[in-house]
Amino acid sequence: MGDRKKARVAGVGSYVPDKIITNNDLEKMVDTSDEWIRTRTGIKERRVVDEDTTTSDLAYQAAKEALADAEMEANQLDLILVATATPDYPAFPATACVLQHKLGVKGIPAFDLAAACTGFIYGLSTATQYIETGTYENILVVGAETLSKIVNWEDRGTCILFGDGAGAAVLTADDKGGIINNVIGADGEMHEVLMVPGGGSKEPFSQDVLEQEANYIIMEGKPVFKFAVRILGKAAKQALEEADLGVDDIDFLIPHQANTRIIDAAAKRLKLDQDQIYVNLDQYGNTSAASIPLALAEAKHKGKLQAGDIVVLVGFGAGLTWGATVIEWQ
Ligand code: ACO
Repeated sequence: MGDRKKARVAGVGSYVPDKIITNNDLEKMVDTSDEWIRTRTGIKERRVVDEDTTTSDLAYQAAKEALADAEMEANQLDLILVATATPDYPAFPATACVLQHKLGVKGIPAFDLAAACTGFIYGLSTATQYIETGTYENILVVGAETLSKIVNWEDRGTCILFGDGAGAAVLTADDKGGIINNVIGADGEMHEVLMVPGGGSKEPFSQDVLEQEANYIIMEGKPVFKFAVRILGKAAKQALEEADLGVDDIDFLIPHQANTRIIDAAAKRLKLDQDQIYVNLDQYGNTSAASIPLALAEAKHKGKLQAGDIVVLVGFGAGLTWGATVIEWQ
């Protein structure tokens, strides 16, 4: 193998649909209150798509912005990865193939990654390998979700948490550096604490699935909460240590946007100040695979990331899965 290049984040983009559902709107749908939602989760409102909008539509908008930010044309891409738990079609084709078509390119590989809310980090990890081995030069990694379509709007335990959106990054091979390290992991023993039980090979889609409402998200909030608090700090530390860095080196943290209490607990463990952490879950809720790239794109466009900064992205999700990426921002 020739000179090993690093994967630099050349451009980022994001997109959210216009329609807003506030906590007050939810009060009219389920037995909840704005106060409960804000104090337990930090969420004030979330975006949702209309009936005709698909995950690839959101992905397309975010991808276009990321390509423009990278000053790159879609035909310069070598690979498209889409992380999503809400693909356009239940089995196939991959949403990445639909996105490839919408971007007007042909021939390059395109595939989806399923790691729920950690999907974008899994995507960055995969893309980094292709770049560092010299296989590909320019890779589009997208996290996009239309969770509103798999949320049970009668279940107050879950419907208050989630929202729709997309975020994207264009990675490019560079001598200067960029992504220093990725860590990904999974604990399948806990796969049942957060899932969509019906509509797959275990319980194929049927009238029964519909009647039992098994086609929607179910979650045991408490174990997910405990796991998240523990793993965010642990994954970030591991990713840093493997790169001969420590928590003191972190300039900016972009965590998965699930719950401010989870983020605050992780921040405490990592000894970070509020102004070193990006939080936008008050506006968007938990957008699963879209959450980290959506936050990354906003943070960059607001001028929060300076050249040379050590930026850590860290997430967790169904699986259960986790992951962290350390970037020396260029
Ligand atoms: N409004 C009002 N009351 C509610 C609501 C609601 N929306 N939801 C639950 N409650 C009630 C419960 O019924 C319970 O009542 P009880 O005491 O009478 O039984 C009470 O509030 C407390 O419920 P808990 O579930 O104990 O509340 P908790 O403090 O654990 O908060 C929450 C719940 C916010 C879901 C929390 O557990 C959490 O954030 N968990 C992590 C979830 C998460 O991050 N999931 C995303 C993972 S990423 C991915 O891959 C999609």
